[in-house]
Amino acid sequence: MMRLDKLLSKSGGLSRKEAAAAVRSGRVLVNGVRAKKADCKIDEEEDGVVLDGRPLVYRKFTYIMLHKPIGYVSSTDDPGGPTVLELLPAPLSKGLFPCGRLDKNTTGLLILTDDGEFCHRLLTPRNHVPKDYLFSCARPVTEEDKKALESGVDIGGYVTRPCVLTLRSPTEGIITVTEGKYHQIKLMFQSRCNKILSLHRLSFGGVSLDESLTPGAYRLLTDGEREKLCALPHGALALEATPDGLSGERDGQDRDTRTR
Ligand code: URA
Repeated sequence: MMRLDKLLSKSGGLSRKEAAAAVRSGRVLVNGVRAKKADCKIDEEEDGVVLDGRPLVYRKFTYIMLHKPIGYVSSTDDPGGPTVLELLPAPLSKGLFPCGRLDKNTTGLLILTDDGEFCHRLLTPRNHVPKDYLFSCARPVTEEDKKALESGVDIGGYVTRPCVLTLRSPTEGIITVTEGKYHQIKLMFQSRCNKILSLHRLSFGGVSLDESLTPGAYRLLTDGEREKLCALPHGALALEATPDGLSGERDGQDRDTRTR
């Protein structure tokens, strides 16, 4: 059994206040009958809860897509600044953690969940989940830089895996990496005597940031998005399927696996 407002939050993405307002205005049905109180107890496995005509399916775990803004730390508890969890209302945020990390000044797609196994599968270095980042940098990227970055550069005792870089202008483009070392992209550009000026994650494991989410906004992952991520790592190996022997695995603890 659980409180109705908790289900409306965990499965409908509502804050406690929004859940109470939805109940008050008659937008919530429990087994076909208008709910009267947001704090009433329901059987989440058995009772049919409908919000605005949409049946809510109870799930054991929560999966959120967040547009991370600048200035937030990707952790559950950090004395050095506000955490991304502070962008979510209670009780939705309870028990959630970021699936990987973005630097404080990196923006874009961050997934939050309370499903540890799901998170581990997405972050384990072995699975090479692709992540696309839009970047801008201080100096033009030369053909030689592009080749070096794509085939792997030394970022301080670790040689990065092959990646794909698509330039939109000499100082802007999209880089697709399949690992997540600490400050990886910044260090990669540094190794070419360049400097990342801005970094924005566009996608993770083939799931793109919803363009309607403004910085700081969030929504639940759709079933399709969750299924896509659950179907990894099969899809995650796509980058490796390119020629030139890109499949050699290198050891090393990804910083993304050191989350929370
Ligand atoms: N690489 C970085 O350098 N920073 C990020 O936040 C993500 C990838």
